[in-house]
Amino acid sequence: MYSSSATELQKSLSLGSISIGQRRNMIPAGDNVVVSTMKLEKLLSMKGGQGEASYANNSQAQAKHARCTLHLLKETLDRVQLESPEVPFVVADLGCSSGTNTIYIVDVIVKHVIKRYEAVGCEPPEFSAFFSDLPSNDFNTLFQLLPPLASNGGSMEECLAAPNGHRSYFAAGVPGSFYRRLFPSRSVDVFYSAFSLHWLSQVPEAVIDKRSPAYNKERVFIHGATEATANAYRKQFQADLAAFLRSRSEEMKRGGSMFLVCLGRTSVDPTDQDGAGLLFGTHFQDAWDDLVQEGLITSEKRDNFNIPVYAPSLQDFKEVVEANGSFAINRLEVLRGGSPLVVDSPDDAAEVGRALANSCRTVSGVLVDAHIGDRLGEELFSRVQTRASRHAKELLEQLQFFHIVASLSFA
Ligand SMILES: C[S@@+](CC[C@H](N)C(=O)[O-])C[C@H]1O[C@@H](n2cnc3c(N)ncnc32)[C@H](O)[C@@H]1O
Repeated sequence: MYSSSATELQKSLSLGSISIGQRRNMIPAGDNVVVSTMKLEKLLSMKGGQGEASYANNSQAQAKHARCTLHLLKETLDRVQLESPEVPFVVADLGCSSGTNTIYIVDVIVKHVIKRYEAVGCEPPEFSAFFSDLPSNDFNTLFQLLPPLASNGGSMEECLAAPNGHRSYFAAGVPGSFYRRLFPSRSVDVFYSAFSLHWLSQVPEAVIDKRSPAYNKERVFIHGATEATANAYRKQFQADLAAFLRSRSEEMKRGGSMFLVCLGRTSVDPTDQDGAGLLFGTHFQDAWDDLVQEGLITSEKRDNFNIPVYAPSLQDFKEVVEANGSFAINRLEVLRGGSPLVVDSPDDAAEVGRALANSCRTVSGVLVDAHIGDRLGEELFSRVQTRASRHAKELLEQLQFFHIVASLSFA
């Protein structure tokens, strides 16, 4: 899988060769790429396109988990106050990424709301769906996957009677961070966000500051870190969620609702990140250590990289919603989400290894490549794959995600 020797790789690094990823993102080699909010916002995305490691091809697990929460989503939609059919109904998916998951969910939401209008004997309104993510998201792939608008040029009545394979809503992309304002005041009926809010706006500064007690020495994730590191991560998560809720409380129409799902954990201890811990805190961590031990990167380079993800406990989440005070909590719970590993042959260790490496790469590959370049990124993930293959059985048994599910209404 990787042809270059360690010496060749070291040579190309010391000659300052710039990888395609680095050129594309214009981040000077050696910089920490994720420490500032602005840098992370410019850079972060799931792997675009429709190739082997793309999000479009590696998000079946999220699709499955989302389907398990559909009844709770519908319960949330039942709480939305319906307006006159003259007023367009507005849905926004925040952190939509670039696969079909978002298209499926928006379709579910629109169809459910249509049914509610019909149940009270009203014509449904027109629908607007906003697909929102960071600017580096692959919106092109997403837009190409969108089904055509039903009855182009016809009346909305015709559109709403959309046959399968067509959409019955107007679609638009909204680039920007959900930690800031994205929409005009009081303009959105339903916000949906799945598997996105565990992404922090930045790596907490203290975590990569050598002088700080929270410095995450020798680690690339919070899992297994010190208490001081964990506190820095938790503080960042809570500040980010507070900013998210502040913005949504401006943008949501009165009577609107919000359905949020993100990675969560069952343990009180934040250094035990459950599934996220296994994904980024074990084989991924060991693969970084391999690169250091093989002399391909310095230990400082590794220590400067941290995954900006935090799986909150219910308490971490609840404290922020309560402190914000704008939303009534209809439901707030931790659910067992299942495994991110989708494999045809569970006995095939190589396939399990590849699935884990792809899961890891599809969500963190862009950040890794920007930090160490595409070639070393390739080296890193092939080591993740080798290591994961050796622990295939254990991974299948133990890798399990938990999700925080929140249904909130705007009073
Ligand atoms: C794992 S994907 C989830 C995609 C989709 N919701 C699904 O259910 O399959 C997480 C998405 O959150 C986005 N994201 C992370 N931080 C964000 C932020 N601050 N603002 C907007 N989107 C963000 C990422 O770019 C990524 O596309």
